[in-house]
Amino acid sequence: MAVTEIIMFEKYYPWRKSISSYDIDYEGLYMDGVRGLIYDIDNTLVEHGADANERAIELFGKLFDMGFSVCFISNNNEERVKRFYDGLKAGGVDTSRTHYVFKANKPMIKHYISATKLMNLEKDKVVFVGDQLFTDVYGANRAGIKSILVKPIDPKEEIQIVFKRKLENVVMKHYDKSVKKFLESENLVLIGFMGSGKTSVGKALAKKLNMECIDTDKFIEENAGMTINEIFAEKGEDYFRSLETAVLSELSKNCFGKIICCGGGTPLREENVEVLHTMGTIVYLKVSPETVIERLKDDDTRPLLKRPDKEAAVKELLDSRKAKYYKAADMNIVTDGKTAEAIADEIIANL
Ligand code: S3P
Repeated sequence: MAVTEIIMFEKYYPWRKSISSYDIDYEGLYMDGVRGLIYDIDNTLVEHGADANERAIELFGKLFDMGFSVCFISNNNEERVKRFYDGLKAGGVDTSRTHYVFKANKPMIKHYISATKLMNLEKDKVVFVGDQLFTDVYGANRAGIKSILVKPIDPKEEIQIVFKRKLENVVMKHYDKSVKKFLESENLVLIGFMGSGKTSVGKALAKKLNMECIDTDKFIEENAGMTINEIFAEKGEDYFRSLETAVLSELSKNCFGKIICCGGGTPLREENVEVLHTMGTIVYLKVSPETVIERLKDDDTRPLLKRPDKEAAVKELLDSRKAKYYKAADMNIVTDGKTAEAIADEIIANL
């Protein structure tokens, strides 16, 4: 493929992809310093021309409470945009940090910039969310704002949009190919709490991407000739942690194009995180304490949870580690209520 062709497509590539505007990890964005969200409305938040619904009211209430500023920018007219905005207000959303721009003429960059000004934020603190590549994402790229491409809410679209979608598919095929190329030289590293599904998601990813999956805990057990439980009981946690660091250092030297599933405590050591960053993209699988408790209620292979108050142990440990997981990660994925296959698809979509 000619270099010019690659460059031509890249300008349409989104920063990330997501299944829906309602499925984005907003907590993760906030932790990464994002303070403003710019949204397209039609087919991004509700069906074309529809009023704000309960789902939208709930989302924007939550975003406001989290501390985000919001700006809607639509190519549609004032009546349509204001109707959506008023619907949120009528639903009880505090709109004091919510703005809108109509007839925005996306992909012209002027109103992306107006949106950042209305929110009083620098461009690097803002992320754009939209469903169309050639207007929404292209405009955001031109304005120097990160974008998240979401699937359109309504699959039935007007004929001129159907045609545009065909062209979008061509671009996204190139995008997916560039992701594949990148995976040949990089590893995908999965981190997250015990029971977050690293192993099963790792296996699902390995199958989908035709890559090998390496489990660092298994590696440790095989090399030590002991189970994790035995290592903790006979040699102690510090000894286990030093084995963990040694294994990572070993893998970092000769591992390419692999999925690496880490033990839940790996990101606790700063030196481990540094090594992981040299190995590839770090994906944090977020899980709620309730899900962990349910998944591990009959498990006795995790020495750190062998306590009569297992529930409290999960909550305490997860709480004390959360910031470290976020800090280490390049990508955060919410896993509760999703199958390993769906999580794997989401990771691939976000690469
Ligand atoms: C640990 C998690 C375990 C294992 C060890 C310690 C932790 O791995 O490495 O029991 O500190 O969270 P999983 O996350 O695969 O259960």
